Amino acid sequence: MGQINMELMRSDAPIGVFDSGVGGLTVVREIMRQIPNEKIIYFGDTARVPYGSKSQETVTRFSEQIVRFLRTFQVKTIVVACNTASAYALETLEKNIDIPIIGVVKPGAKAAAEVTRNKKIGVIATEATIGSKIYSQYIHQLSSDVEIYGKACPLFVPLVEEGLLQDPVTDEIARRYLAELIDIDIDTLILGCTHYPLIRSTLQRIMGENVTLVNPAYETALELKRLLGSMKMLNEETPGLGSDRYRFYVSDKADKFVHFANSIIKYGILSAKTVQIEKY
Ligand code: DGL
Repeated sequence: MGQINMELMRSDAPIGVFDSGVGGLTVVREIMRQIPNEKIIYFGDTARVPYGSKSQETVTRFSEQIVRFLRTFQVKTIVVACNTASAYALETLEKNIDIPIIGVVKPGAKAAAEVTRNKKIGVIATEATIGSKIYSQYIHQLSSDVEIYGKACPLFVPLVEEGLLQDPVTDEIARRYLAELIDIDIDTLILGCTHYPLIRSTLQRIMGENVTLVNPAYETALELKRLLGSMKMLNEETPGLGSDRYRFYVSDKADKFVHFANSIIKYGILSAKTVQIEKY
């Protein structure tokens, strides 16, 4: 990480969170649960989703624009709530920033390494995340004798973005994607894309009860809490329920986003604003 400038950070400042679309809301949901005093500014790049089939250069450029946008709110830290952006862009973002920034991959890898008993871990994610082998790298740093099997599941993101969370089509596609992981007999499956926890019950049913699903969103919120605590940057005051507690921005289709967000977050999101993110 670049040099952290504590003067830029105030404990009552918001946390910036971003994803390519709605998937990062699974991380927001965990942050709301685990550190409810924190204010959040969320950006979902709904005009340019999916990131998972794009190049590293493009995902890095998009991520840099979003970080510049989030910093206009004087955020005290940024959470890259997207595995693809964490895999492709986090290293570059870290070098050029003077506030803490964390991704979702490291916390998820750590949890999976702790959970596995038979040392066979499956990772499902976008083509980009699987191709980067980033989960294998982190897991092997912690435990070198674990076997890791990656499977790209590119159709899951559009299915989730279309709201087909409980649907026979999603079921059929999940069966096809997961068949080889079932054959290999993994005992732990990392949901390596922030969209996937939204189809968790389907994935668990198909994998069977003996396979533990790891949701990096949960671990990331925990890591964020630890990080802010260690820097004495947790918000001690409970913010009012006013409109600036949680704010949502997207690059397209704000209404569709609000509808979706309300189906997964209990908070009651009234609006999201559209931003021309290319300007940043
Ligand atoms: N939710 C994102 C992730 O965690 C990516 C989905 C996409 O844009 O392809 O990887």
